[in-house]
Amino acid sequence: MWTSWWLWPMVAVCAADSFRDQAERIMQDTPVIDGHNDLPWQLLKLFNNQLLDKRANLTTLADTHTNIPKLKAGFVGGQFWSAYIPCDTQNKDAVKRTLEQMDVIYRMCQMYPEVFQCVTSSAGIRQAFREGKVASLIGVEGGHSIDSSLGVLRTFYHLGMRYMTLTHNCNTPWADNWLVDGGADKAQSQGLSVFGQHMVKEMNRLGIMIDLAHVSVATMKAALQLSTAPVIFSHSSAYSLCRHGRNVPDDVLQMVKETGSLVMVNFYSNFVSCSDRANLSQVADHLDYIKKVAGAGAVGFGGDYDGVSSLPLGLEDVSKYPDLIAELLRRKWTETEVRGALAHNLLRVFEAVEKVSNHNETPEETPIPLDQLGGSCRTQYGYSGAPSLHRSHRLLAFLVLLIFSLRPL
Ligand SMILES: *[C@@H]1O[C@H](CO)[C@@H](O)[C@H](O)[C@H]1NC(C)=O
Ligand SMILES: *[C@@H]1O[C@H](CO)[C@@H](O)[C@H](O)[C@H]1NC(C)=O
Ligand SMILES: [Zn+2]
Repeated sequence: MWTSWWLWPMVAVCAADSFRDQAERIMQDTPVIDGHNDLPWQLLKLFNNQLLDKRANLTTLADTHTNIPKLKAGFVGGQFWSAYIPCDTQNKDAVKRTLEQMDVIYRMCQMYPEVFQCVTSSAGIRQAFREGKVASLIGVEGGHSIDSSLGVLRTFYHLGMRYMTLTHNCNTPWADNWLVDGGADKAQSQGLSVFGQHMVKEMNRLGIMIDLAHVSVATMKAALQLSTAPVIFSHSSAYSLCRHGRNVPDDVLQMVKETGSLVMVNFYSNFVSCSDRANLSQVADHLDYIKKVAGAGAVGFGGDYDGVSSLPLGLEDVSKYPDLIAELLRRKWTETEVRGALAHNLLRVFEAVEKVSNHNETPEETPIPLDQLGGSCRTQYGYSGAPSLHRSHRLLAFLVLLIFSLRPL
């Protein structure tokens, strides 16, 4: 009976449905942890971070890739929300604006406690899974956000930042961005400067995941070599399938494999197919490819939802993850491999980062050399070249004396 040719289309349809069913069954206890979502940036742009605005209701929010019903339909159980602010804030109000994006993430958790649970550890993610909440974590996208300050890095850690992308689309004074590789930007640090190396060490000591999305290849390699914990690419795809500077080349994928690190695949059409049109199957090709080169333990998802203008057919918003999982099952990924990509790989990396961290170890104190700082609106307190408090008092005394001596008696 099964050999009857007219039955084959039906068999195919049933099989397709069963992959989707299997995906949902797996995601019920292993929901997806996504590495990068820009909803906080949308909240700033659309509502100036006013969550009480009726239009900003996250249940009914319509024109974004992300809202509460879509998160539920997509079995999203963990999200690194991006505290992103653009590079034009560098040397200006970057720190203040980053703090405000961290604040809006906390206010999401406060306003929708049935949905979001702000957590800062791997154990916190597992707890949120058990409670059926979206574990919500903070990733800061771009080293410009800390204004070259180890003190700001540490303070952001205390405020919940658990990964930092070393650069966005601009160099910091201590790390080069991906535009350097195509010649659009000039290499400044040749990977990481000496201060940049201290930054990576301090991130290891604190337990902040090092995110290499957006950095130059030299910076990727320098950080992978230096870090004592595995690193992540929170939203990057495979360079061999789409030769875009934001993607990860094969020799770096090899280092990812050797260090137990993680590439969370970006869905942005331009990084998937190198054009503004792509489909779900092509995203699965990137997942397949990274699995082939770096191993199933190196694969994750970093959709970049609400941070990009064009998404593949079939992955239009955050509700679509189960369709992608069904496709991986169709491609004969084992259940263990799928659970790895969904959550276990990220949890493994996060736990390794937590294990390497050591809050008893002495913090790194050496500030960035003054002459490496850009911008002109910054004060110079603390640097030896700056007028000390003592000297400015002496200056004041001198001026007072001068005024008195010139005063007609
Ligand atoms: C958002 O909208 C939903 C559905 O209309 C409503 O039940 C809920 O109370 C609103 N939430 C807030 C925080 O305004
Ligand atoms: C996805 O896009 C590729 C490239 O255009 C095409 O070959 C393939 O048939 C498409 N797959 C599906 C399922 O639409
Ligand atoms: Zn990005």
